[in-house]
Parts: sequence; structure tokens; C-alpha cells
Amino acid sequence: MKHAPVPDDRVIVLFGSTGDLARRKLLPGLFRLAVAGLLPRSCRIIGTSRKSLSNEEFRTFARAAVDEFGRCEVAEEAWRNFARLLSYAPSDAGDFGVLAATVERAEAEIGSGPRRLHYLSVPPAAMVRIIEALGRAGLAEGARVIVEKPFGTDLASARRLNAAVHLAFDESQVFRIDHFLGKETVQNILALRFANGLFEPAWNRDHIDHVQIDVPETLSIGSRAGFYESTGAFRDMVVTHLFQVLGFVAMEPPASLDAKALVDEKVRVFRSLEPLDPTRVVRGQYEGYLAEDGVAPGSQTDTFVALEVRIDNARWAGVPFYLRTGKRLAEGRRVTTIAFKKPRLRMFDGDGFCPNKLVFDLADPGGIAVEFLAKVPGAAMAIGPARMAFAYEDSFCTSNRLEAYERLIHDALIGDRTLFTRADGIERLWEVATPLLESPPPVQAYPAGTWGPGAADDLVAPRRWHLPDG
Ligand code: BG6
Repeated sequence: MKHAPVPDDRVIVLFGSTGDLARRKLLPGLFRLAVAGLLPRSCRIIGTSRKSLSNEEFRTFARAAVDEFGRCEVAEEAWRNFARLLSYAPSDAGDFGVLAATVERAEAEIGSGPRRLHYLSVPPAAMVRIIEALGRAGLAEGARVIVEKPFGTDLASARRLNAAVHLAFDESQVFRIDHFLGKETVQNILALRFANGLFEPAWNRDHIDHVQIDVPETLSIGSRAGFYESTGAFRDMVVTHLFQVLGFVAMEPPASLDAKALVDEKVRVFRSLEPLDPTRVVRGQYEGYLAEDGVAPGSQTDTFVALEVRIDNARWAGVPFYLRTGKRLAEGRRVTTIAFKKPRLRMFDGDGFCPNKLVFDLADPGGIAVEFLAKVPGAAMAIGPARMAFAYEDSFCTSNRLEAYERLIHDALIGDRTLFTRADGIERLWEVATPLLESPPPVQAYPAGTWGPGAADDLVAPRRWHLPDG
């Protein structure tokens, strides 16, 4: 962390500042960056939403968020220093007058000139109005803008949103965030592949049988029905996080690790994706979802989705990628599994054993394991399943690590776009998703605390989901 650059002075405007994400991640994340000395030396953070709050009420809200969800001890002096940076201005998409005046006052206080970072933590339906209003109020000038996912809800809305963004901002000002790309283990997929001679030679259809990207969650939708009813598991998680992870797993070696080279390669993978086949998709809904607050009667919103994805290029032709995620499942995990083919020469009995696997646990900070077969000690030449595991804390000091949102907010503050997504990539993902969005299979009910509808097991048969472990 010693070498992390300190960003230029800037005013940060947090849209959706009283929402769920702000409470759980953004406010605690900004506090942690402040404590780590990674916020600009002079900086102001302005919370905004349609609610009417005083500065003091917003500070109280932020303090409760930091106490409940923060990752570090809240020392009173550190809090007082942070609270001094916070203020609040209500904003309605039609009228950004109060907000614009508050931003100008903050800029005058720190003497930064118009240097802004707008964080749009708002649902897709509110995005265009806010971006247009930012443009009208002159708040796009000298600004970077972080846009939360999902970026649109289908191809047409993503294109509309990109068009609106580009009317107010130049693409170089836009940071489309997908927080999975800020996770250490996701970036470690690249390190493992491209920094080691061991794995890359086997990273192709000759050696890999299939890939799984599996993110089961135990959480329900909680109080997020307003967001979730118009999104569902596929839009919330698959077309965003799971496809982004797939991009890292499947990309060709980039010419360098600079932002353009890396994002170009990711987008090339997305271009090679075959359009989704709705007959290879299982949609589910947990029992009890219809009784959640704010859910429409008879809602067909998916809280679970499992699907097969195919990549039509020389490296991956014929290798299925299985993606699965859902709410109220048996475990909360984030796991990517590379399952290798069995050796051509069958020297040992053991057809019943699982294939060799490389398992990325994308928890924070997570780890990587290799599952293989070894000789069972004893007189007989028998083989049994064995495991080699890497955990971050065994090899590195992890106390200074940044959590995904912290890392990405800091990247946007210093203008590093490497881990952000790009308009063309996102539009391509919606294009690939179109057959499914147009003809979604009906949702199948599943009991909470299970692994979703049984049809998800049939989808991968004769293979099996790596989770649950063992
Ligand atoms: C968010 C989704 O983007 O990611 C949530 O909107 C989901 O529904 C969350 O629970 C999962 O993120 P993480 O980092 O907790 O795995």
C-alpha cells in the first residue's frame, strides 16, 4: 500500500447515498480509504438522493454504516476527520440546483477547480435521467463518473444509456464498475495464467473438459425488491459479474497489462460467445419469494439461474462453461473451477474419481486449490483424491489489502481504467443474452436452503457441479 498513488484533490458526489450499496460498501469503503491515506489530500464527499436530509443526519447515517459494515476499528479521531469531509444535498433529476451549488462550494473550499467524481449507485431505470441532469447542470465538466451495474436491462436500454452517457461525458471520463473485477482472486486468475509456465500450456480445449463459474448465495433479496423485481438473478449477476469472470478465464494473453490491451482481449472473448440457447438455461425462484415485501403477485423474476455458455474460438470450441448463481441457496460461495480432461492413457483404475481441477475461491481474500489423484499409502498401488491449496494469508501479508469496492474507487480516483468494463463489451453481452431475454424458460420453484431446481444438475450431466465440496 506504501506505493499506491495518492489521488489528485477532488469532490466525490455519491448518488444513491442512502441506499443499500452505499450503506454496505461505499461509505465504509470511503472511510477505509481515508484511514489508509488513499483519499485525495483535499477532498469532499457529498451524499445525494431524493431524500431530504441535513448534513448531520447524513453523517449519522454514514457512521451507522461504517460501524455496522466497516472492516476496520473506528477510532474517534479518524471518524471526526472523515465526518468533516461529508455533506449532503438533495437532488431530484429535474432539479440539480442545490447539488450544483453544494459542489461549487466544496470546490471553493478545497481550491480544486472543477475536479469531480460522480458515483451513480442507482437502479438502471434512474440512470439516464441523472446523467442528462448532470450534463444540464454543468456537473459533467471536469468529472469522472462511476456507473454501477447492471448497465441497462437489455441491448436496447444499454445502447440508450451509452448514448446518453456519451452526450454528457467523453468515454475517457466513464468508469463502468463491476466489483467482481476488484476481487484479489479474480485478478489472480490473470497472474496464475500469465506469470507461470505451469498452467498456460494446458489452458485450452485439448486439456480442459469444462469450466464452472458458480456463485451461490444464502441471502434473500432482503429489502431490495424494488431493484430485484426489475432485474432478477440473470441481469443482476450473470450478464455482469459471472461473464466478467468468464472474460478473465477465457481471454487470450494480452499484449500487456495496460488497460486498453486487457479490455480489448476481454471484449474479443465476448465477441466469440455464442448467443445463449434458452433450452440450455434453468431459471428458478425460491419458495417464499412471492411473499417478500414489494414483490408483484405471480412474479416470474428469477432468483436462480444456471446456464451453459459456449465460446466459438480456436481455444475453447467444444468446452462448455457452466454458470450458476442464486439467492437463498445452501451455501454462500464464489468459486471458479477449471476441470481437466482425464489422461489419454488409462494406467490406473479410478474412472469413478473426479477429474483434476483447479479451483479458484473468489472469497475475499480467497485462495486457489488443485485437486488431483495421489497414491494411497500402503502396499497396494491404489490412488485416491488429494488436494494442494494456496491461501493468501499463508503466503502474503493481507492486512493492508483493499476490498473490491475500495480498490476500484481508488482506481477511478487515480484514473486507472484497467479493471472497468467498456461500452462495446457490455453491449455485446446484452446481444448474446437476447435469445434468453426474448424467450425465457418459466421459473421453477426451489425450497430455500437447497441447490436450486434439480434441472440444474441435469444441465451439467454427466458432469457434476463442483459445489457442494466433496
Ligand atoms: C451485487 C448484487 O452486485 O453482488 C447482489 O447486486 C449480490 O445481489 C452481490 O449479492 C454479491 O457480491 P459479493 O461481493 O458479496 O459476492
